[in-house]
Amino acid sequence: MKACLFKIQTHKSIMSQFAELSFDGKSYQLPVVEGTEGEKAVDISKLRAQSGLITLDTGYKNTGATMSGITFLDGEKGILHYRGYSIEELAENASFIEVAYLLIYGELPTQSQLEAFEARIMKHNNLHEDFKKIYDGFPSSAHPMGVLSAMVSSLTAFYPGALNPNFTDEEADRTIARLMGKLPTIAAWAYTNSIGAPVNYPTDKDYCSNFLYMMFKRPNRDLKIDPVVVKALNTLLILHADHEQNCSTSTVRIVGSSHASLYSSVAAGINALWGPLHGGANQAVIEMLDAIHADGGDTKKYMAKAKDKNDPFRLMGFGHRVYKNFDPRARIIKKACDDVLEALGVDDPVLDIAKGLEQEALSDPYFKDRNLYPNVDFYSGIIYRALGLKTELFTVMFALGRLPGWIAQWKELRDNGEPIGRPRQIYTGATPRAYVPMEKR
Ligand code: SDX
Repeated sequence: MKACLFKIQTHKSIMSQFAELSFDGKSYQLPVVEGTEGEKAVDISKLRAQSGLITLDTGYKNTGATMSGITFLDGEKGILHYRGYSIEELAENASFIEVAYLLIYGELPTQSQLEAFEARIMKHNNLHEDFKKIYDGFPSSAHPMGVLSAMVSSLTAFYPGALNPNFTDEEADRTIARLMGKLPTIAAWAYTNSIGAPVNYPTDKDYCSNFLYMMFKRPNRDLKIDPVVVKALNTLLILHADHEQNCSTSTVRIVGSSHASLYSSVAAGINALWGPLHGGANQAVIEMLDAIHADGGDTKKYMAKAKDKNDPFRLMGFGHRVYKNFDPRARIIKKACDDVLEALGVDDPVLDIAKGLEQEALSDPYFKDRNLYPNVDFYSGIIYRALGLKTELFTVMFALGRLPGWIAQWKELRDNGEPIGRPRQIYTGATPRAYVPMEKR
């Protein structure tokens, strides 16, 4: 085993910094790049050509996939910025469509730009009548995330122009507006289809009110859309809008890197988000809290299970790959949770269980030593349930929020002409051997 000395020697010179790798008696200089927030990375793009070595980082915990100007987060400090604006200020002052425009096009829109963007989205928020035939093919028990990804993929059949890898900016803007407009309708129709209710066609209401209308309007009753609910939904969608290179966004980017369409790339991102370790956690949190409630509210029993290495149970909604401090989104959602439940007069016993779990975990050495804090999913499900959404729709709400981030990241990758993603590996399988005829096996 040859000694390998990886000596970091960053030399800040006029032009650039570099790191020095010493291996097998040779040394290699690797450029160090620095981002606008002072993050540094060793650029290994020429490492294999120079040294024959590759790097290995299962789960990419230490590996940057790209350089991006969209979202900055500092996991140690619990900071989250979209295009330089803090999540706290955006959640307090902006509309979700305003934030979507910021993420996708890079700047806060003027009033006329915002109105034009909203009008483009509204123009495309209906679905072709043939979509109803696709919905009819799903059993009512189908999980809405599976329906969502199938329907988004189906957009390629109705709008084949999006398949053109050499699209113009105008064609890209139309596809973006179609996806922003249609995803809430796709989600709402998946819900009404699952409960046997007639679909509600989209309206010219604002984005969040239109979604609530399509979800909850029934032929036999009027629908009062509560401004408290609209504001809470607007905040939740903003908080979920982007999160740099998370699992589902990385999926959208790698699919997009093959020059697959935006629809195909987002459909793949929806499937990645569905996993219980990622966006599916908000559904898993409520299922966990309900189980604790049904079990007499014994939070200590579930804390013990979460710490037991022989028990696969994890405290859902806790921990994060990047945040080793409070997820800033969780703080905002926890406050919104109190406000919404009070405004709606909802008394949900699992809210007290959630707060109890949080307090116990924040003072427990197992969680403190591992920097495990509540993440964005810990409280969001409680609000969604107070808004009248069934548990299986919680991850759909995450997807609705994350859509502009997926779009922005896909657009950045394509605008920057990034190459097709193709990671390497270290092979650990059988070494060369001769074929064995059947009679000798
Ligand atoms: C999202 O990446 C993003 O940005 C994602 C997201 C976004 O906006 O896109 O923020 C959205 O996905 C939030 C995360 C939602 N997932 C959950 O809430 C599921 C529960 N959390 C975990 O499964 C876990 O914390 C992860 C998956 C979120 C992060 O896992 P990591 O970074 O791979 O950490 P790890 O599994 O290596 O855990 C480190 C230690 C381990 O213990 P030891 O081996 O050191 O003894 O912490 C333990 C883990 O067992 N641990 C937990 C735990 N999370 C980690 N123990 C109990 N309960 C937990 N929730």
